[in-house]
Amino acid sequence: MQSDVSDTTHEREGDSGRHHRRRPTITTRRPGLDFSDVPKYWFGGNALGTHGANALNLLFPDGERFFVRSVRRYLDSVDDAQLRADVQRFVEQEAQHGVEHEHYFAALEAHGFVIRPMLKAYRFVAFRVIERVAPPVLRLSATAALEHLTATFAKLALSNTVLDHAHPTMRSLLSWHAAEEIEHRAVAFDVLQKVDPRWSTRAAGIAVAVGTLFPFWVLFQGSLMWQDRANLSLARLREERKVVKDKTEDRRVAQQAAVLDYLRRDFHPLDEDTTHLAEAYFAAHPVAAR
Ligand SMILES: [Fe+2]
Ligand SMILES: [Fe+2]
Repeated sequence: MQSDVSDTTHEREGDSGRHHRRRPTITTRRPGLDFSDVPKYWFGGNALGTHGANALNLLFPDGERFFVRSVRRYLDSVDDAQLRADVQRFVEQEAQHGVEHEHYFAALEAHGFVIRPMLKAYRFVAFRVIERVAPPVLRLSATAALEHLTATFAKLALSNTVLDHAHPTMRSLLSWHAAEEIEHRAVAFDVLQKVDPRWSTRAAGIAVAVGTLFPFWVLFQGSLMWQDRANLSLARLREERKVVKDKTEDRRVAQQAAVLDYLRRDFHPLDEDTTHLAEAYFAAHPVAAR
């Protein structure tokens, strides 16, 4: 199965033809992964790295449901047929990401982790607090910002060696997800541009994004490590930290740069052409279309 990423050039409205950007074609695929043989410490035996990645995994399905609800609400405001079609494919991709990640949750539970209370608390904050308190345009803006951060992580996952030591099934899950995040990285942002292109709205969105993503990530990693504390001596954690330190530092630097880049007045997610990373991944690792 080919990558299905086209070479079409997309000119953004209102840019006087200055920016010519390649708009990726968005394709929904179904990897249908089997997680039954994924070991407890699938990140090269490294517990610290595994718990950190698992914590992010736990955020995906409900986080992505929140994204879908935030973008879909504005579908009627989008008159551009191409963008409407892209929104539909973005929704399908995020739904499939949720399905695969939730299959992995069963493996996590089989290793003895209690994850349902964490997911319940996260759902409460996303759907009972943020959805009720934050205005729809702020939810859309936070979604656009989180999609930018996700695309930043995706670029790292596909361009450096961070996943080299991961169990092959987890590597497939995270690489497939990363490549599709790159494909749809501009969709929520383009909808936001149609609905409310003000810089202040964009800046408020990334403030909400940063203020919700990282605290949950740290809390969930802490909870998983607490549950596994019988196997985590200080000496082990110290050793494991040495192994993941460089990658964690790469991510921290990339995150900071991504936030600053997002605050450029003329920022657009397609400014940086990372589409070739998705193309190369799917060319080498075909995944059946849904
Ligand atoms: Fe996703
Ligand atoms: Fe996404």
